[in-house]
Amino acid sequence: MLQVVQQLDAQLQAAMAAAFPTVVASGQPLDPQLVPASRPEFGDLQANAALALARPLGQKPRAIAEAIVAQLLQDQAFTALCLPPEIAGPGFINLTLRPERLAAEVQARLGDPRLGVPETAAPATVIVDFSSPNIAKEMHVGHLRSTIIGDCLARVLEFRGNRVLRLNHVGDWGTQFGMLITHLKQVAPEALTTADSVDLGDLVAFYREAKQRFDSDGAFQATAREEVVRLQGGDADSLRAWGLLCDQSRREFQQIYDRLDIRLNERGESFYNPLLPAVVADLRSAGLLVEDDGAQVVFLEGVSGKDGRPMPLIVQKSDGGFNYATTDLAAIRHRLDADGAGRVIYVTDAGQASHFAAVFQVARRAGWIGDDHRIDHVPFGLVQGDDGKKLKTRSGDTVRLKDLLDEAVERATADLQRRLTDEGRHEDEAFITQVATTVGLAAVKYADLSTNRITNYQFSFDRMLALTGNTAPYLLYAVVRIAGIARRGGDLAATAGPALSFSEPQEWALIRELLRFDTVVVEVEHELLPNRLCSYLFELSQSFNRFYDQVPVLKADDPARSSRLALCRLTADTLRLGLSLLGIPTLERM
Ligand code: ARG
Repeated sequence: MLQVVQQLDAQLQAAMAAAFPTVVASGQPLDPQLVPASRPEFGDLQANAALALARPLGQKPRAIAEAIVAQLLQDQAFTALCLPPEIAGPGFINLTLRPERLAAEVQARLGDPRLGVPETAAPATVIVDFSSPNIAKEMHVGHLRSTIIGDCLARVLEFRGNRVLRLNHVGDWGTQFGMLITHLKQVAPEALTTADSVDLGDLVAFYREAKQRFDSDGAFQATAREEVVRLQGGDADSLRAWGLLCDQSRREFQQIYDRLDIRLNERGESFYNPLLPAVVADLRSAGLLVEDDGAQVVFLEGVSGKDGRPMPLIVQKSDGGFNYATTDLAAIRHRLDADGAGRVIYVTDAGQASHFAAVFQVARRAGWIGDDHRIDHVPFGLVQGDDGKKLKTRSGDTVRLKDLLDEAVERATADLQRRLTDEGRHEDEAFITQVATTVGLAAVKYADLSTNRITNYQFSFDRMLALTGNTAPYLLYAVVRIAGIARRGGDLAATAGPALSFSEPQEWALIRELLRFDTVVVEVEHELLPNRLCSYLFELSQSFNRFYDQVPVLKADDPARSSRLALCRLTADTLRLGLSLLGIPTLERM
């Protein structure tokens, strides 16, 4: 309906201009204030402009609305699009699209693989920085959230026709390697020279030990620091050890990405190492760099610390080393400059909000971020257990992602087997594996995407795997239901046939829902909120189920039968496309 709304907006503007030439002459903009109708019985859309014009015109809003409507009724393009408008309350103009226009929109979408979603008029290079786990550490649920949300945003941006670079900013550089290599040299030197001589679980444990020693043992700390210097200076042995450690983690990460069907290009922190000195030089020549306690810092505007002094962003430590922020400064500079990105999106937990605000501020003041760049930190809340506390295993350990995904699939398998028994169905092993894997992983992704990402989110297998409610199984089941109609003789592929004809309120409700898809996708692209798409797909499934429960489809006669089949097909297509933008594949049977 994006196009229809645009047409209506233009028609309303023209009507307002014709009714109130003085406003146009005064140079005031004429905004029809067109919004979706607040209730279905008010029609499809409403224009609220009359209320805003009351004061400048010195007239009653209702009279203004009447004058606008009088003009609209003279516009043939408008009367072909809408029924005669109604004026409600103090002066809202309620607009109802003509049923034949809605049917024509449905017809147009039946042959359109994009289902009405236009390609963006201004495609850009967009960088989505997501997932970004740390080498030699376990990838945790926070990284899982980043992975799922980032992938969805990348898919939506790609579908809109942007060139999307999916960057995995892995933590593969810095002091942690100094500690780890120093420790391994003493306790497991083979790990530094031979691939896979320890597994990642052990590596994580070694890292924990190394960190403990680093924090408590001064001599160890000094050696570890020397080790970092060696690594950053390009020492061959250090680099080889570092390479082995990275490879090992990388392969573990890749297993998770493969299972979840996530594509990512690794461009870790180490990539920016050679670019760090230029960052410092640039900030110095921009006059932003100040020496503070031996460190090179930029004092942040509008952010003050406990002592009331502006907070510094440390760019180079007093020992000459660089940090997380320096790397992000180098990254943003490189992305805008060398990659030519018009938009950069960072998907991390909300805890990093002040880090990114600081980095963006400095990049802006340095002149790297221009007026036409759009830079967003896309924050998300914590993942909590059923009990509302941080997600942990029963023994109190952090949950490993592999175990979490395994459990989702196991539970989906058990649910499925129970249902098959209840329904007296027999299915083979391959079917069960495929359905349970799809449902289990879909449930994990959907549960994450369907909550407003900014709030914390309670992880519950029971809730995410339920067949009712706003869940992946509920949506997948709607697709399966429609596929079942085809198996029972409904020709869903027919494109030609008698002209569409609709009569039932359930049909119109479903049509109106179907036609919102394009608006919702564009909204997600702008607002970066996947839960909007989830809510939409849920409401669409509900409308479909109401329609299908209450209106006969296969038993109806033409043209009602083929028109209703067309709605079934468009619903399935919309659910499939919508779910694919969430990174969720669908099933024909379940
Ligand atoms: N590695 C970081 C972490 O685990 C996330 C990196 C996010 N991206 C960035 N450009 N800073 O918290």
